[in-house]
Amino acid sequence: MTPAESEECYAFASFHLFPNQRALVRGGEVMSVGSRAFDMLLLLVERAGKVVSISDFMQHVWTDITVEEANLRVQVGSIRKVLSRCDEAKRAIETIPLRGYCFVLPVVHTPGRRIEPPRPASGFPASIPALLSEPVGRDDVIAVVEDALRRRRLVTITGPGGIGKTTVAIATATRIADSFDGPVVFVDLTSASDYATAAQRVSEELGLEPSPDPFAALSAFLCDRSTLLILDTCEHIVEPAALLVEQLLQRCAELHVLVTSREALRAAGEWTHRLASLTFPEAGQMIDPGKPTSYSAIELFLDRLSAATRYEVDGQEWRMVAEICRRLDGIPLALEFAAARVADLGVQSVARHLDDRFAILTRGRRTALPRHHTLAAALDWSFGLLSTDEQRLLGLLATHDGPFTVETAVDCGQQAGCDRPLEALSGLYEKSLLSVHSRDDPPTFRLMDTIRAYVVSRQAA
Ligand SMILES: Nc1ncnc2c1ncn2[C@@H]1O[C@H](COP(=O)(O)OP(=O)(O)OP(=O)(O)O)[C@@H](O)[C@H]1O
Ligand SMILES: [Mg+2]
Repeated sequence: MTPAESEECYAFASFHLFPNQRALVRGGEVMSVGSRAFDMLLLLVERAGKVVSISDFMQHVWTDITVEEANLRVQVGSIRKVLSRCDEAKRAIETIPLRGYCFVLPVVHTPGRRIEPPRPASGFPASIPALLSEPVGRDDVIAVVEDALRRRRLVTITGPGGIGKTTVAIATATRIADSFDGPVVFVDLTSASDYATAAQRVSEELGLEPSPDPFAALSAFLCDRSTLLILDTCEHIVEPAALLVEQLLQRCAELHVLVTSREALRAAGEWTHRLASLTFPEAGQMIDPGKPTSYSAIELFLDRLSAATRYEVDGQEWRMVAEICRRLDGIPLALEFAAARVADLGVQSVARHLDDRFAILTRGRRTALPRHHTLAAALDWSFGLLSTDEQRLLGLLATHDGPFTVETAVDCGQQAGCDRPLEALSGLYEKSLLSVHSRDDPPTFRLMDTIRAYVVSRQAA
């Protein structure tokens, strides 16, 4: 029999221990462990976190003969040697003076069912969603993220709602897929609400059969397969997602993970890319009607406009197009909404109504995610994830004109009644609701126009 036919499994660090098979497996390789050593290891793992005394070993392992304690120490030494092939498991067995030994690593036990290796229910459905059109203005970013993913195992794209994180992740994954030595699997975590449902979603996308312990099944499946997982939309479950990702990366040496989230996971080894807006002309800067697409926000706006209608921008309207792109902060989602409205209201009218943008930017694609149906919904999603302190601080910062320093923000926080204004400021930055305006000394921060307008409209409501 091979470990694949085993029914029961204990998983710890990068090892899987199969009691029925009497096999200890790591990365698909069966470790060489003597029979007594195996029984000792099994007893230790079954009682992980508890002290196993010398007499326990005598009772369970050497049922037929009496042995010296020295022999027992030799066996423990041989187990430690095998486990030390994995850094995390080097100190898995602690000696408890005068009492015995204790297995100190976390162990996931899957009783009485087959998990190694789990079989995809319906073949391997490796899938990356297709983009409806080529991303505009993101070639450099895609190259940076691609390079990061080749050198690191955990890369996160952060940025405000609708800025294009998922788009960049999909474009990067599509580019990598041909040369990546293994499947590339996209998992939308929007509907996950905790660790278990996140693990379940990943499991589903891998095509694994439902399991009472999806994590054990997942790590068993991924432990010896080179795989790129794209975990899309994690900001509402940052803590459980961080835990899941860290544990998977620890157990699965060939796994790479690309995350998109409005807030970084702050997981071990995470490399973060904060996605900037598409480019647009500064206030008062003229655009050359001959080369309007030298700004990526304008290029996207015109592309969506031409997809929606036959509309020729001319004369004065170029200035208004530039204004729309600037006041919508070069956020692709907002630009798509605006272009859709130009088709019926015209450029001038859309530009004129930008103060009331949440009333007009309401026509998302019917097939889009619910949080992309309106511009307000995209921001509601972020606002709902803020603490009370962060909401209060944001409310006051929205009334502040222009960029501000940390000191100003802390003053605002105190006025707004925040318990911990500095933490609230960091929280807003981490959740992509503030951007750095200048890195001078002292540095200054700013609110995007769209976020300011959103907060003001909430206050007015
Ligand atoms: N570079 C781009 N070129 C063309 N369209 C883009 C680009 N970036 C984003 N879009 C479009 O903008 C919309 C929002 O993009 P996307 O879903 O990638 O944003 P997001 O940052 O992942 O949002 P969320 O935070 O809500 O998950 C989508 O309809 C997408 O097609
Ligand atoms: Mg997204």
